[in-house]
Amino acid sequence: MYRVGIFGVSGYAGQKLVELIVSHPEAEITAGFVASEEGTPEITEIMPRLKGLIRLRCKNSPDWKDIEKNCDVVFLALPHSVSMKFVPPLVEMGKKIIDLSADFRFDDIKTYERWYVKHTCPQLNSRFVYGLPELNREEIKNTDFVANPGCYPTSVILALYPLVKNNLIDKKVFVDSKSGVTGAGRALSFGNLFVECNENIKAYKIGEHRHSPEMEEVINRIGGGTGYSIVFVPHLVPYNQGILSTCYVMLTSEMAEEKIQEIYEGIYENEPFVRVMDYGLSPSVKNIVNTNFCDIGIKLVDNRTLVVISSIDNLVKGAAGQAVQNMNIMLGLKETIPFF
Ligand SMILES: NC(=O)c1ccc[n+]([C@@H]2O[C@H](COP(=O)([O-])OP(=O)(O)OC[C@H]3O[C@@H](n4cnc5c(N)ncnc54)[C@H](OP(=O)(O)O)[C@@H]3O)[C@@H](O)[C@H]2O)c1
Repeated sequence: MYRVGIFGVSGYAGQKLVELIVSHPEAEITAGFVASEEGTPEITEIMPRLKGLIRLRCKNSPDWKDIEKNCDVVFLALPHSVSMKFVPPLVEMGKKIIDLSADFRFDDIKTYERWYVKHTCPQLNSRFVYGLPELNREEIKNTDFVANPGCYPTSVILALYPLVKNNLIDKKVFVDSKSGVTGAGRALSFGNLFVECNENIKAYKIGEHRHSPEMEEVINRIGGGTGYSIVFVPHLVPYNQGILSTCYVMLTSEMAEEKIQEIYEGIYENEPFVRVMDYGLSPSVKNIVNTNFCDIGIKLVDNRTLVVISSIDNLVKGAAGQAVQNMNIMLGLKETIPFF
């Protein structure tokens, strides 16, 4: 059994990690941390639904001796800027690290610092691999340090990858994404109150969401240079989990629907968690909630305007599920457990 530590157990991503590791046949949770100053809760006080399935007392700060002795892999399900405080000692101890925050996602540290905060261990940044298995599986196999992608970027990059890889589209892309409320995390905020969200839909951070530079950096890397820009408009919608991203792209030349469909099916043929829908069918959030799937559907609106729609669960393929997929790849385990 591989021994897993989770920092940020009480958060939405952390709780989903706990659920997945509890049902993982080759891993067990040996350490859990929360920030809360209200004592050291038993994990089932945070997640009563797991009563009888796991016993573990969480701590308020890492017990480094315990981690050194009892963890092989550590997941950091913490806010950005908090994660990077814990990375240097874990690297020093030779632990495998999967960080769910944005702290190590960027190749260009200046971009990170422009959109987030000053990096406190930039010397470690280049040792992290961007953990999108469909793009970087070989690198993930050979690293001890993974930066798990953001939820919106996972949905958008997987939707655009076949087009950008084959250089088929204009460099300006318009993306409209809709996310459930867990995407904002568990910390209290006025905009996420039930009464504010329920029976409502609202765009926010138009053109200035922190996931835009992440998508643009990766899309430009796939495209072999610079020049792609994404007009990204996220929306908050009143369901718990799930993202639906609609991408509007202009093809550089006319293409038949069969040809585009063939390209998508070819690229994702052997990907266990990406499902290309039949041509013209639209993915929906209900079909992917609590799964690690990314569903993708395409439709030509005219002979040069293409709409690509993708759906993922923000807490699963967009966070904890993808993190466990990365752990499996790093450890040489079957990539799809505990999902199937
Ligand atoms: N939610 C998503 O859909 C999603 C998707 C992809 C990636 N992510 C990323 O995953 C990370 C966690 O997100 P989340 O949505 O799970 O957030 P969350 O619900 O707000 O949970 C944050 C967790 O971090 C702990 N924490 C907060 N401040 C801390 C500190 N100073 N020291 C130690 N622990 C601290 C919290 O503990 P307490 O509860 O005790 O305060 C909680 O366990 C974030 O970086 C987020 O960007 C989230």
